[in-house]
Formats: sequence, structure tokens, C-alpha cells
Amino acid sequence: MEKSKGHNQSIRKMKVEDISQVSFIESDAFPQLFPPTSFRREFQRKISTILVAVSNSQMVEKEEFSPYSKTTRNPLNYRSGNTGWKPGMDFLTGFIFLWDTTIEESHVMSICTRRSHRRKGIGEFLLYSALINSIKKGARSLTLEVRVSNVPAISLYKKYGLATQGLRKSYYADNHEDAKIMTVYDIQSLDYRNSLNDKLVRLQERLNN
Ligand SMILES: CC(C)(COP(=O)(O)OP(=O)(O)OC[C@H]1O[C@@H](n2cnc3c(N)ncnc32)[C@H](O)[C@@H]1OP(=O)(O)O)[C@@H](O)C(=O)NCCC(=O)NCCS
Repeated sequence: MEKSKGHNQSIRKMKVEDISQVSFIESDAFPQLFPPTSFRREFQRKISTILVAVSNSQMVEKEEFSPYSKTTRNPLNYRSGNTGWKPGMDFLTGFIFLWDTTIEESHVMSICTRRSHRRKGIGEFLLYSALINSIKKGARSLTLEVRVSNVPAISLYKKYGLATQGLRKSYYADNHEDAKIMTVYDIQSLDYRNSLNDKLVRLQERLNN
């Protein structure tokens, strides 16, 4: 996959050295998830695709964010002060993890933006990039499950044409919440690809601000 670039963020495939940050972002977003995803194992699986968002403008701030920094300031506001980041690493702001369940269908297993970086277009950039990646691989649809109460995620998915296909009752083990099954079909169609192009123009403006 080519590296998609906005000015402040770029998207690329996950590397082994990203695992600590991706795991951190997941456990911060889903503390109830047990067992947590083994990104080391998923990294080696043929059906898995894991894309990460990298901050291109974090070089100075990285020093402040670092748990190793001499300064006590912690703008990420994580109680532990831990961000999963270590000196020399790219600073990751989010990830999306998919399985190619069949040749024709991509399944989003998880998408997360680092808590400190939400509402800046990163989740959208990740979903957009995953859709482009799936289209290039020949998938015709993209599907996922989402908690019925997860308003931000449902809104993001609707924005990209995913519609509710049904419910999985008591799908989540922690609180027996139902999952919505959301799918977008026909992602290879010219109409859909054009709609992605239009969204990218607006998204890049947002990411560049
Ligand atoms: C869902 C999530 C990935 C969105 O990421 P994000 O980087 O904050 O989202 P973006 O800034 O790219 O927003 C894109 C769209 O998502 C929707 N959205 C994001 N946050 C929202 C919020 N708090 N309320 C309502 N809609 C929201 C909107 O449709 C938004 O488009 P808009 O800005 O034109 O209104 C993020 O909230 C997250 O990591 N949540 C925790 C993990 C999670 O629940 N993942 C989904 C599991 S299925």
C-alpha cells in the first residue's frame, strides 16, 4: 500500500515496532476487552490488515509527550503518563484493524483514535484508507459490528455509507449490549469511489489545519 499523506498525518501499514503503541491505544479505548488483541499474532496473519496513523508534526511535542521527558508536563493527560511511545519511534495517533473474511468482503475488527487526538479527522482518514485498501484488493463490501450506544463510531460509519443490516443480540460479553451490523456494499462502483474522492478533498483540508 502506498503511504497516504495529509500534512499532519499519514497512514501506513503497521510495523512490528508499532505494536506497543497500537496495544496501548486499544487498551485505553477498550479497557474491558479481554483478552486484548494480540497484534503480534495478527501482524503475521494473511487475513489481517492493520493500518496506523502517524503524526508528522509531533517531533517537538514528542519530547513533551515522552514518559522519558525531563519535563513533568503531560499534555496527553494519561493517568500513567504512558503513551506506548518511546524515543526513536513514529508517534501513532490511531489504527484500524481489518480481516479479509472472504475475497469479496473486508471486516473491520477495530478502529481507534488516540484519546488525545480525537475529532481531528484521524478516524475518518483511517476508515477512508482502509476502504481504498480494500477496493484495491478487490473487496466489494466492508462490514463491521458496533455497540448500539457508540454514537461517534456509528456517525463515522454512516458518513461512509455503512447502513445497519441487523442486530446481534447481547453481542458484547462485558455488558451484554447489542451490536449493530453495519455494511457498505458495492464499494467498487464508480459512484462510491467518486464519493470517496470528494470526501478526501474535505478531509485533507481538515487534516492540514
Ligand atoms: C470512533 C472514533 C474512531 C472516531 O475517531 P475520530 O478521529 O475522533 O473521528 P474524526 O475526527 O475522524 O470524525 C469523523 C466523523 O466521526 C463522527 N464522530 C467522531 N466523533 C464524534 C462524536 N464525539 N460525536 C458524534 N460524531 C462523532 C462524525 O461523523 C465525524 O464527522 P464530522 O466531523 O464531519 O462530524 C473514536 O471516537 C474512537 O477511537 N473511539 C473509541 C474506540 C471506538 O469506539 N471505536 C469504534 C469501535 S466499533
